Amino acid sequence: MIRLVICAVFLASLAGCTTPEFDQDEIDLASQKASAAADLLLQKLTGELANAMANGGPAAAVLVCKDRAPAIAAEIEATSGVDIERTALRIRNPDNAADEWETEVMESFAARRKAGEEWSTMSATVVDGRRLRWMRPIPLAPLCATCHGEASAIAPETRKALLDFYPADQAVGFSPGDLRGAFTARAPM
Ligand code: HEC
Repeated sequence: MIRLVICAVFLASLAGCTTPEFDQDEIDLASQKASAAADLLLQKLTGELANAMANGGPAAAVLVCKDRAPAIAAEIEATSGVDIERTALRIRNPDNAADEWETEVMESFAARRKAGEEWSTMSATVVDGRRLRWMRPIPLAPLCATCHGEASAIAPETRKALLDFYPADQAVGFSPGDLRGAFTARAPM
């Protein structure tokens, strides 16, 4: 009997440390933090991208996506505590490769869009230890086609700059409105 009780207590403590319980308010708060981090990354990146395209052309803007995207994401993490990144089913930078959960979520986003849902209403979350994992789709805007559109329609100079840095680039052939990728975040709870 005593052994049984000890065993039950041990199992309960194991369950307690692997699946801490969070209430909906904590999940909502972490979701909001992740969403705000994604908004900020989008806003800063789009601003720098448009600026670089206007001043140096798309080949120069490639450097904004290459160097500034991770740097801005790191700044946001330092101030908000939210680890924010970008991923995709077809990637340009292998460092942005999706894991299993991210792949499943992006496939479900694409299926929901096919069924008529708007990208802007979609997001996904899952509790992972003491953090909330959160994702939101990134649809392709017309501006993005300069570097992610049909390969044959990308200016040769831009295409060359892209292939110099990303010889295994898979992130071309998208049309405006397609699912280009997703924001993926880990927010503390
Ligand atoms: C000037 C060229 C250029 C433009 C314009 C551009 N991108 Fe990119 N994009 C890149 C480069 C270069 C990378 C790889 C960045 C890195 O090394 O992390 C990238 C990476 C990404 C990624 C990360 C996943 C991956 O494939 O590695 C997403 C998502 C993305 N771009 C979405 C967009 C969206 C949405 C737009 C329009 C708002 C856009 N891009 C416009 C060049 C561009």
